[in-house]
Amino acid sequence: MKGAFITIEGLEGVGKSTCISFVKEFIANEGHKVIITREPGGTLLGEKIRKLILESKAGTLSAETETMLMFAARAHHLNLVILPALQNGSWVISDRFTDATFAYQGGGRNVSMDWLDSLQNYIQNGLEPDLTLLLDAPPKIGLNRISNRDLDYFEDESESFYKKVRNIYLDLAKNQKNRIKIIDASASIKSVNLQIITVLKQFIAQYKQLSND
Ligand code: TMP
Repeated sequence: MKGAFITIEGLEGVGKSTCISFVKEFIANEGHKVIITREPGGTLLGEKIRKLILESKAGTLSAETETMLMFAARAHHLNLVILPALQNGSWVISDRFTDATFAYQGGGRNVSMDWLDSLQNYIQNGLEPDLTLLLDAPPKIGLNRISNRDLDYFEDESESFYKKVRNIYLDLAKNQKNRIKIIDASASIKSVNLQIITVLKQFIAQYKQLSND
């Protein structure tokens, strides 16, 4: 049986790491093999690309360069990690995937959405996450939470950049309601976990149903 591909998305500081640990444990308790990975990254080359981008000085990469680096890392990640794991029956949880490119490069940097669509079609050849949890909160909340870190390439962006990123995430969720589930990340951890449990239970029930058909 093929594994399921779950992605976690959201602005910086919304609690993706906590959410990923929670989702991993929930799915493992259901008896599935689970791997955790991330974008950009997930492979040796992808992690080098990640470092290259996140350690660049703000404004030194063009939006097109950012986009192509994200997709280069993604193509490698798909071939080396995601597709083999899914084929092997593992469930894959990725900390970000292509929705982030639409939100950050498309929304934040105004890269053509049509170009992103065609890159996505070419590189992914029809593969999409089966489920995406979008941890949503106003940018101010996340930016306050990360304000005491050393900020990386994107974390140093303005609130208006993050507003544009968030709007695209919300548009994607509105247009792909079956796949993208919005989690209110401004709520307490207890409430966030309850929202995640509701979504996962429903997803796992559908997955079992499809596997039995
Ligand atoms: P993070 O995984 O720690 O959130 O850092 C990754 C950063 O890279 C984050 O600011 C979002 C950004 N990013 C993009 O801009 N486009 C992408 O396609 C991906 C996967 C990430």
